[in-house]
Order: sequence, then C-alpha cells, then structure tokens
Amino acid sequence: MLNFDRQHIWHPYTSMKAPLPVFPVVSASGVKIRLADGRELIDGMSSWWAAIHGYNVPELNRAVCEQIEAMSHVMFGGLTHKPAVELAEILISITPEPLTKVFFCDSGSVAVEVAIKMATQYWSGLGRGDKQKLLTVRSGYHGDTLGAMAVCDPVTGMHGIFKDILVRHHFAEMPMCGYHDEWDERYIKNLEDILKKNHKSIAAIILEPVVQGAGGMRFYSPMYLKRARQLSDEFNVLLILDEIATGFGRTGTMFACEQAGISPDIMCIGKALTGGYMSLAATLTTDKVSDGISSGAGGSFMHGPTFMANPLACSVALASIRLLLSSPWEKRVAAIEARLKDELSPCTGLALVRDVRVLGAIGVIELKQPVDMAAIQKKFVSRGVWLRPFGRLVYTMPPYVIEKDDLSRIAKAMVEVVGETDDV
Ligand SMILES: Cc1ncc(COP(=O)(O)O)c(C=O)c1O
Repeated sequence: MLNFDRQHIWHPYTSMKAPLPVFPVVSASGVKIRLADGRELIDGMSSWWAAIHGYNVPELNRAVCEQIEAMSHVMFGGLTHKPAVELAEILISITPEPLTKVFFCDSGSVAVEVAIKMATQYWSGLGRGDKQKLLTVRSGYHGDTLGAMAVCDPVTGMHGIFKDILVRHHFAEMPMCGYHDEWDERYIKNLEDILKKNHKSIAAIILEPVVQGAGGMRFYSPMYLKRARQLSDEFNVLLILDEIATGFGRTGTMFACEQAGISPDIMCIGKALTGGYMSLAATLTTDKVSDGISSGAGGSFMHGPTFMANPLACSVALASIRLLLSSPWEKRVAAIEARLKDELSPCTGLALVRDVRVLGAIGVIELKQPVDMAAIQKKFVSRGVWLRPFGRLVYTMPPYVIEKDDLSRIAKAMVEVVGETDDV
C-alpha cells in the first residue's frame, strides 16, 4: 500500500519525486489515531483545526447514519431540505448579528472565492464596477485556489510561480502588534495609507481575525481588527473576515472577531463546521451586501457548486454545533490554554527558540530555523503523539475534549523534541 501511495498519490505540499513519509492509519476514536502497525497517537492537530470533538463521536456518527437513510445528496438548484435550513438558522444565530444570508459551499478555499465574488458583485450592483481589488496583510493564508492564493502571503504563497495567473492585490505589512501589546496607531498606518491612496478601486479588506494561521501562526491585537473595521467604513470598502481556522471556539470565543467587538460584512467559515467529519464551508453576509448583489445585472449571485449544501455534511454540521453548544467548550478551551502556557514555557529562552505563544486551544513554539519535517515528525510519532510542524513552527491545536494527561504528553513531547533540536 505504501509503495503504491508513494508512486501515485499526491499528499499536501509534497514532491512526487521525494515524497515525505506518510503513516498508514486504520481508525481514529476520541483523541487517538490508530496506525496500521497498532501504535496509537494522541492527536495534537484536530486534523488541521477541524476535529474539535475528536473522532468517532457517537452524536456525529448518528447524524450521518440517520441522514444517509433519508438521502445522502440532492442538488440544491430548485430543491431545498431541512438539514440546510436548520444549519443556516443555527449559523445565523451564533454568528455576529448583521450576518443573515448564508451561502453553502465545498471547502474553505471555495468559501473565500465566494466571499471575493460577493464583494465584487456587491459593488458592481451599486454601479461601482471599478472596485475589484482586495486589500490584505502579509503573512496571511486563505486557501489554495487561485482567487484565495492571490490574497495569501506573496512569499509563502509562492506568488512568483503563478505570477501571470494571479490577480495582483494590495498587501499591507503584517500586523506587528502582539496579542497583548498596548495599541499604537502606527501598527495600522500602512493599511490606512494604502486605503487612502487606493480605496476607489478596493472592494474589500480580507483578514484572518486575531490569528494568522498557516502563514505563520501569529496572534495579533484585536484592536487591529477594530481599527480595520473603522477604516473599512471610513473608506467605503467591505470587510471580509476569514474565520475558517478560528471559528467555533478555537481562540476562546465562538468567533475570533468577537474579541474585537466587531462584525464583518462577509464571513467565511469551514474546517470545524462539521466537527471534521467532511468537507463543508459557508460564506455569510448581511442584508446590505445581498441587496447590493441582487440590484446588479441579472440580480443573481454567480456561484452554485454541484455539492452545495450536501445533506450529509449539513446534518453532521448541525449535530456538531449542537454538541459544541451543549458542552462546556469555553471552560475546556481555557483549560487547554492554561496548561499549554504552563507546560510549553520551559522552551522560552532556549537558544534555537524565537518565541513561545499560546492563545485559546493553540500552542506554538516558533524556532529560529526551519525544522526538518520528516525527522521531527518521526520523533513525535515515536513519543506517541501526532503533530505536523512546518517551517519554523512546532505547534498544537488539539481537540477540545482532550484530557489533561494526554495534553501534557503532547506538551512534553514538544518541549523534549525542541530541546533535542536545540542540542544539535
Ligand atoms: C484561514 C484559512 N482560510 C482558508 C483555508 C482553506 O481551507 P480549505 O483547506 O478547506 O480549502 C484555510 C485552511 O487551512 C485557512 O486556515
């Protein structure tokens, strides 16, 4: 199996000539991933921010099984169904207030494409077809499709390779204010200057709120977001918040933008939406934006994926949100935060460590040099832990249901492995 996999199947961000090693998995339950050789690994990744309740969750299994007996899929053009309607209702109730319209789509990247199209169509509907550019910050990540890539960090997003097919947008410097830093207007000056100069052609600002994820696992002050909201109003551009990684409690609040007391014009969600069971994302917007879109040529929003609002995915998403709301998730995330702060702290001050930071259920050790991914991953697996470091980052975002001993094993493995790296 591994031989075939190596020769024929692409894994994320790998070379077909020199693929990184992969570990065959046979099952996953609770916070444990079971490998084909019988070893069990404690999951420190939640399958890339998604499996917030862990794996093989009875409530979510039941939702999928019941729905599959009724229908696994029907097209969403001309038809609708209870799982989609109930999911939209609950999403509108838990997201910040002016968001009232929901567009279901396949993945996070597509949700970002949809958000970009919504912003563009909104302005076009208002007779402002000249507003087609986006403004974002460096070190961001919004997905791998072309529209989303165009607003990812130009260096880590490898814009050089795709230079002639990516739209050129505006990039402000990344937010330089740490999460707890006292606010200073100079932190947002560059964004403001770009807006002053270019607002007439800018449709929207797009940001990951509070946490820049795959672009560097950086946390920044909610004040930056608050000011970005004010500036977007002042300069008449929309604000898109990409909550795909941060949504559903990861940073300690249901959505990260709540920490700034603001709401966006357009919000993207995905990943933990289905508790990590299957791919589903959504883009939410306000009456104002949807009215603008509907006033434009044809009046229709121009997107409609084949698997839009897939009933299985909607049912499991609904079950996942209900499970989250009925659980003490805030306490759990706060407990994870406290333990990670405490147990990752021995790494602070090591020669090869640049920074140790924790926010909500996210713990990051940033090194000064990039890690050797294959070697470091092996070390974690040999310690019974599943982590996937990248670049200079060794980090964890475990399922919220993780018990304290399992979390301690993850933290201990991070400290030990980084300590070993430090010896070299
Ligand atoms: C903030 C953010 N936006 C968008 C995406 C893309 O989501 P997907 O991988 O589901 O396309 C990701 C994925 O990591 C993300 O972290």
